[in-house]
Amino acid sequence: MTTAALSDVHPLLRDFLSRRVHQLLIDGQSVGAQSGKTFATPNPATGETLAVVAEADAADVDRAVAAARRALEGPWSKLSPAERERVLHKAADLLEARAEAFAQLESLDNGKPIRESKNADLPLAVGLLRYFAGWPTKIHGETTPVSVPYYPGAKFLHYTVREPVGVVGAIIPWNFPLLMAIERLAPALACGNAVILKPAEQTPLSALWLGELLLEAGVPAGVVNVVPGYGPTAGAAIARHMGIDKVTFTGSTEVGREVLKASAGNMKRVTMELGGKSPNIVFADADLDAAAKGIFTGIFYNQGQCCSAGSRVFIERPVYEKMLGALADRSKTVKLGNPLDPKTHMGPVVSDEQRKRVLSYIESGRKDGAQLLSGGAAAPGPGYFVSPTVFGAVKDEMTIAREEIFGPVVAVMPFDSVDEVVARANGTDYGLVSAVWTKDVKRAHQMAQKIKAGTVWINCYHFVDAAAPWGGVKQSGYGREKGAYALENYTALKSVWVDLN
Ligand code: NAI
Ligand code: MG
Repeated sequence: MTTAALSDVHPLLRDFLSRRVHQLLIDGQSVGAQSGKTFATPNPATGETLAVVAEADAADVDRAVAAARRALEGPWSKLSPAERERVLHKAADLLEARAEAFAQLESLDNGKPIRESKNADLPLAVGLLRYFAGWPTKIHGETTPVSVPYYPGAKFLHYTVREPVGVVGAIIPWNFPLLMAIERLAPALACGNAVILKPAEQTPLSALWLGELLLEAGVPAGVVNVVPGYGPTAGAAIARHMGIDKVTFTGSTEVGREVLKASAGNMKRVTMELGGKSPNIVFADADLDAAAKGIFTGIFYNQGQCCSAGSRVFIERPVYEKMLGALADRSKTVKLGNPLDPKTHMGPVVSDEQRKRVLSYIESGRKDGAQLLSGGAAAPGPGYFVSPTVFGAVKDEMTIAREEIFGPVVAVMPFDSVDEVVARANGTDYGLVSAVWTKDVKRAHQMAQKIKAGTVWINCYHFVDAAAPWGGVKQSGYGREKGAYALENYTALKSVWVDLN
């Protein structure tokens, strides 16, 4: 990154970025990788190196797991639930106070526009910490009225206890680096677990900075270990580790399958939050202005790099041409540019590799005969920019209507009836989210019942909250992050019998 750009960022962030090498965080210490290796994380808006980071592999994961185990049996388990709450609230306060600096770091490392990182990523991250900070004093077991047929008249006291699962491995992607880290850490810590967090190799910085913030908030050394590195080395070491009790994975379905196989060795628990090809369905009776906005943000938010992107848009035929034209026109007004500029609507995609992937999907849409209405190319500039791309007249069997593109590319299709659109919306291996736009209340709820997805948004898109469960069906994964449901992932239920006879 050039010095000119560095001088514009928050002083705290300038200090952080001026480190020569960003070390791993293991057992409360900044340490180099045992191999001595490092890797560079670029600023996707310029292609220049933003920072150099220590590259963890299996040996470092071993060290982190040992530290986590010690912390779990030592200081962490000695904190009372109320003390755990205080630590998490303190972390939320610290993050809120440094929100500007963290938002800038997210934009620099990932390329997302500052208006998104500042208005969504950071407030949502603080909200997750606060929401889960409230749980430690409220996680409890129950007493159970048991009957024992082979011991007539016998009396027992039976109760359950919710205990931490143990050491949690979290493998997260690059699209919401800080938010994904906190979405895993907040419930895991609320439930008393220790964590080995592997951020994506494309965006390792905010997780490392967050790890330091958690130490400052009072999380004991070793409870949170951050090990940036590559998937096949650091990630795979977590997936197969015999000392890790649970893995939470977010990323591609393909890698999710590998992680699941690797987890079989010690039968560790696994939750999977994978990709999507989500349907966004607009009926002709909808508030069409609201729907137009919903289609636009549904696909172009975060440069389209959302597991929940509304990448298949179905529009009822009477309003199809009008809505498609409006979407294409609007996408031509998008201001691509420096992610740190508050006026920028869209930044670059995360990496050169991702840009090439997205461009190859655009090429396949063209070849398959879809109608290209806007965008369709890499935007000029040294960074990894792709202009917002709208394809009309897409057919269900085209690659751009079937595969997750994870970029600013939307496939728009007309439909004629409820039954038809339900069958087509569900005609995918994925099932993460969906949306329905209509003023007809009965139809909205009928659709909500018929669509196979973890979330249905009615007359809105991309709404999330710490209290609302999140996760997929089919090959979009299983398990629910966020909300009270997340506690199931991070606690183990113990059954206790007491003989009262
Ligand atoms: P990926 O699935 O390879 O990476 C996600 C995380 O898994 C990263 O931390 C990575 O280092 C790790 N990983 C990779 N290989 C691993 C292995 N063998 N064992 C354990 N961990 C491993 O995703 P990638 O390559 O960055 O993006 C490719 C596509 O995946 C995207 O275009 C998109 O379609 C999808 N994706 C979906 C995400 C979602 O939120 N559902 C997030 C990121 C990617
Ligand atoms: Mg990969």
